[in-house]
Amino acid sequence: MALVVIGYYASDLNAARKVGKYQDSKWVFAVVVGCMAAITALVFGIISIFSQYRTIAMLFAWEWILVILWAAVTGIFGKMYLGGENDEMDHGVESMITAAAFDCVNLVLWFISAVIGTKGRRNKDDPFHQSSSATLGVPGYDHEGSQSRTDNTIVVEYPEETKDFPPEPTIQGRGGPHLKRTLPNFSLEGRVGVVTGGARGLGLVMAQSLVASGADVAIVDLNKEEAESSAKAIVEQFKKDNPNAQTYDRSKFASSKKEGIFRVPNVTAHHCDVSDPTSVETTLSDIVGKHGKIDHLVTSAGFTENYDAISYPYERMKKLWGVNVDGTYLFATGVAKHLMERNATSGSMVFIGSMSGSIVNVPQPQAPYNAAKAAVRHLAASCAVEWAHANIRVNCISPGYMLTALTRKILDENAELNKTWTSLIPMGKMGRPEDLMGPVTFLLSDASLYVTGADLRVDGGYTCT
Ligand SMILES: NC(=O)c1ccc[n+]([C@@H]2O[C@H](COP(=O)([O-])OP(=O)(O)OC[C@H]3O[C@@H](n4cnc5c(N)ncnc54)[C@H](O)[C@@H]3O)[C@@H](O)[C@H]2O)c1
Repeated sequence: MALVVIGYYASDLNAARKVGKYQDSKWVFAVVVGCMAAITALVFGIISIFSQYRTIAMLFAWEWILVILWAAVTGIFGKMYLGGENDEMDHGVESMITAAAFDCVNLVLWFISAVIGTKGRRNKDDPFHQSSSATLGVPGYDHEGSQSRTDNTIVVEYPEETKDFPPEPTIQGRGGPHLKRTLPNFSLEGRVGVVTGGARGLGLVMAQSLVASGADVAIVDLNKEEAESSAKAIVEQFKKDNPNAQTYDRSKFASSKKEGIFRVPNVTAHHCDVSDPTSVETTLSDIVGKHGKIDHLVTSAGFTENYDAISYPYERMKKLWGVNVDGTYLFATGVAKHLMERNATSGSMVFIGSMSGSIVNVPQPQAPYNAAKAAVRHLAASCAVEWAHANIRVNCISPGYMLTALTRKILDENAELNKTWTSLIPMGKMGRPEDLMGPVTFLLSDASLYVTGADLRVDGGYTCT
């Protein structure tokens, strides 16, 4: 706008110079006004570079007011200063009014753009809404946000073939005979527990903790051979840890246990796809047929994969949800039905979720898994409320990064990932699968009779930060 004023003056002066019309005094007046317009344009231009729409609009509003004043003042003072040269002066004032009209239109346009353009924008002048760099007055750096972003180049697929799974040994010597005293209600003596995904990994270790606590166990897994060999290995390990154990019929003893003698546990293996309702139904009746009843359920069948959300193959995503969410739901409802039918008083379940159900892991992208585990956590809480009347407790365990054979293999191939993960865990290390033995026993046993719908995070403090 100021440039428009200058333009008008320049053309006026040029015309005047050509016909030799203006006196010297009028030149001085025109140059002063022109310079003021130029300086104003420069100052407004510089301020605009650092301002947002709304500030610029306000500057234009002020400029418009100034121009009106300017037109009036130059009209009056110009006339006073220049004496009676009214014709030329009137022409100058006309030019100013035209410039002001331009400015007026400009002002309206800027107000419109300010209202549209600044909707929802942050107020940069508000220190509480500035970025940390801006608050400190330093420029942004590359590191900003870098530790909390996913990396789409990380792609990890869950193995399809059994042969691709690294071997998973049972836990040695940690079940052992009870040499130290503990609360009796931590015992699962005489109970029957089902562990889905129990052939390996966390499921296998949790199955062992059930056995070490006195329960018989049904291992349910898609991998039939490994489920069978793990069931055998658990019994072998139990016998090694308890050399005096005997095989006997519990029903012959009032306390379901021969005085002072541990019973060799009955550990069975069951082939099942937990995401298939028919397979789940058949497996549950097979388990009840072999064990006579079910008291507890641990849903450890589940897996994760890494693809960025946009590239995730839809079929794989459906499978992941099928195993993690549907699998948990189908087994839980099947076992709850069984517990209700036999009016059981000590039924309890533990769903294996993940800390990923509460946070977003970095750097590996895994949106569907995170969402699936959030669903598992909330399913536990929802079932807990729905089945509380039937004395069925449902809780969730959300492990952090655990060193199973499979995670060990992934990290062996990616040392950088290992470093990033452990740097994000306050305890500075990944969990061992056996770190879940205590939590799962606690939540299944009568030691937690008033705990239901809870989510127990076993993550070395990861989710605290
Ligand atoms: N390992 C970790 O760091 C970690 C961390 C948090 C949560 N978890 C969760 O813990 C659970 C166990 O994980 P893991 O590390 O032991 O995994 P894993 O792969 O070592 O074991 C999973 C078991 O589930 C079985 N399985 C897979 N699909 C199945 C299906 N459709 N039906 C029946 N069985 C099936 C597999 O055969 C395998 O034996 C999973 O739900 C996992 O999401 C693991």
